[in-house]
Amino acid sequence: MEPSYPALRLRRSRVAAWSRAMVAEHTLTAADLIWPLFIIDGKRQREPILSMPGVERLSIDFIVEAAREAVDLGIPCLALFPKTPHEFRTDDGAEALNADNLMCRATGAIKDAGLDVGILTDVALDPYTSHGHDGLISADGRILNDESVAVLAEQALVLARAGADIIAPSDMMDGRVGAIRHTLEQEGFHDVQIMAYAAKYASAFYGPFRDAVGSGGYLKGDKRTYQMDSANSDEALREVALDLAEGADSVMVKPGMPYLDIIRRVKDTFKVPTYAYQVSGEYAMIMAAVGQGMIDKNAAMLESLMGFKRAGCNGVLTYFARDAAKLMRS
Ligand code: PBG
Repeated sequence: MEPSYPALRLRRSRVAAWSRAMVAEHTLTAADLIWPLFIIDGKRQREPILSMPGVERLSIDFIVEAAREAVDLGIPCLALFPKTPHEFRTDDGAEALNADNLMCRATGAIKDAGLDVGILTDVALDPYTSHGHDGLISADGRILNDESVAVLAEQALVLARAGADIIAPSDMMDGRVGAIRHTLEQEGFHDVQIMAYAAKYASAFYGPFRDAVGSGGYLKGDKRTYQMDSANSDEALREVALDLAEGADSVMVKPGMPYLDIIRRVKDTFKVPTYAYQVSGEYAMIMAAVGQGMIDKNAAMLESLMGFKRAGCNGVLTYFARDAAKLMRS
């Protein structure tokens, strides 16, 4: 039993900055950050994303510059997303399998630059489909699970061939991690990691991302038949268990801030590398308040990221990656 007041005064350890630093239970460093980047076609192109102040879509030459900056700042990994031109969007999302698509070209360009940075590539069809769903759909609009999984495994292979270090299936189809792992093993990609979007919830917080990759306008209906229901927590553990059994090296919970309880349960139960995605809507929410002068950007950013570490994360995908890494360096 701890003594009680006045023998115990918890404020003693908070009195000075040196003391607060000494008793800190968790740390945040640039190595905790994974930086998502949006790719567009062309050269020397950058486009602002209105719902994500401070985030831009970049042409591949600028993506390579961002990768260099990441290395400089100590950010270990980039997550790439394409804004596919309208004319390449089809019902079957075939552009996902084009070895010369934006994702493959950007991955190759970063690899060619010889940069020591991980490249994480999303596997899902939504940036490529005319209906904005992550998988294939039937004539009456149902998601075709097994048919989708076959295409997603092909997509993963195309990305691995382009040089992706981490395949991150974000589609939430049943059985996709196993199919991707099998394909990668068969084709000799023994060292390509899989970070499964294991517990990915159907969320209102993805809105700005859908603007960023341009899929929002296309999306027919919602994603509730494959993404998880926010009412569920035990089910997240079953999703994680399945993905690990199928060959995932690490798992992700998404969104982040409204689901910190899920992160803690996943970490305590499985003790595997666990990541969170602080998604576009979370970033937008903080930046909107900052824009209105309601909260301090730097403090809110670091506090939100420390929350992920405290909840048990090994790292966080965050649109604040560059700003946070810069701030921590200074
Ligand atoms: C696509 C995908 C989404 C995000 C990452 N991959 C959107 C969605 O599922 O609709 C969201 C990321 C964010 O909001 O920042 N499967």
